[in-house]
Amino acid sequence: MADAQTAGRPEAVTGIGPGTDEAALLAEGGLRLDVSGAVATITLDRPERRNAMTFATWRGLAAIGRSLPAEVRVVVLRGEGPSFSAGIDLGMFSGAGGGFPDTSDPKAADRLIAELQEGYTWLRRPDFVTVAAVQGHAIGGGFQLALACDIRVAADDAKFCMKEPALGLVPDLTGTKPLVEIVGIGRALELCLTARTVPADEAARIGLAEIVVPRDGLDGAVRDLVDALLAVNPGAAVATKRLLWQAAENSLEEQCAAERREQIGRLRELFGG
Ligand code: ACO
Repeated sequence: MADAQTAGRPEAVTGIGPGTDEAALLAEGGLRLDVSGAVATITLDRPERRNAMTFATWRGLAAIGRSLPAEVRVVVLRGEGPSFSAGIDLGMFSGAGGGFPDTSDPKAADRLIAELQEGYTWLRRPDFVTVAAVQGHAIGGGFQLALACDIRVAADDAKFCMKEPALGLVPDLTGTKPLVEIVGIGRALELCLTARTVPADEAARIGLAEIVVPRDGLDGAVRDLVDALLAVNPGAAVATKRLLWQAAENSLEEQCAAERREQIGRLRELFGG
């Protein structure tokens, strides 16, 4: 499967240095990036707007995905303030923050949305595990960002809502596939077409959050999870993530072959040959 999961990291990666175009993009998009050894933390940092997102946010996320240092093994996505993210900046409906694509040129509009989706798709790459730390609201594009991560840790005040259909839109930031994979088509339809809010306890029950903790325990729970993820052999972690993300689409025969391939690679690395 050659897709975002298996796409390689660029040869030369240095992270995002101060004064670069990428740093300006992150500032414009309300994003903060902290890289400390094997852990990169991306913070949605417009709490006064409940971390609402603009085109610059999504382009900034894509830029981070292209530039993470090779040492990074875990990426944490978190939001500053009371909410993870209130989704698209509603100011964009009146043209602020870049406005919407010109649909008189469908190809250009398609290219633009694809570019914005790149802010999300890299989170499934196998070279690191991605963790969303969700408190308060995760709405629309914010919910989809949490869905783009491998694992969701939620505070007990978390509320997930796929608001797009209520605004006349569809969820188009890569969220429909993981949503259906996690909750099934019936529940996904019910959630999207009523645009109802899913509280943390239900989110845990239907698999939208792997871990739910009291609000003041969120940072600690994420730290514990990150420590546990880093304790596993790095090569095995990459190979296992690659395998698990292929499993749903592969036949049993294809998946068995993939397991054999990956295991031979592991055995070679561990014992030579
Ligand atoms: N875009 C722009 N500004 C926003 C957004 C947003 N999506 N969400 C909140 N804000 C602003 C508010 O206007 C307010 O600004 P003000 O202080 O100048 O009045 C500030 O953030 C705080 O918002 P409150 O509503 O006061 O905060 P509260 O914590 O009570 O509620 C909530 C948070 C539930 C997120 C609420 O703000 C809300 O419903 N926002 C809109 C969510 C939405 O419809 N998003 C679009 C989803 S669809 C998509 O993403 C494609």
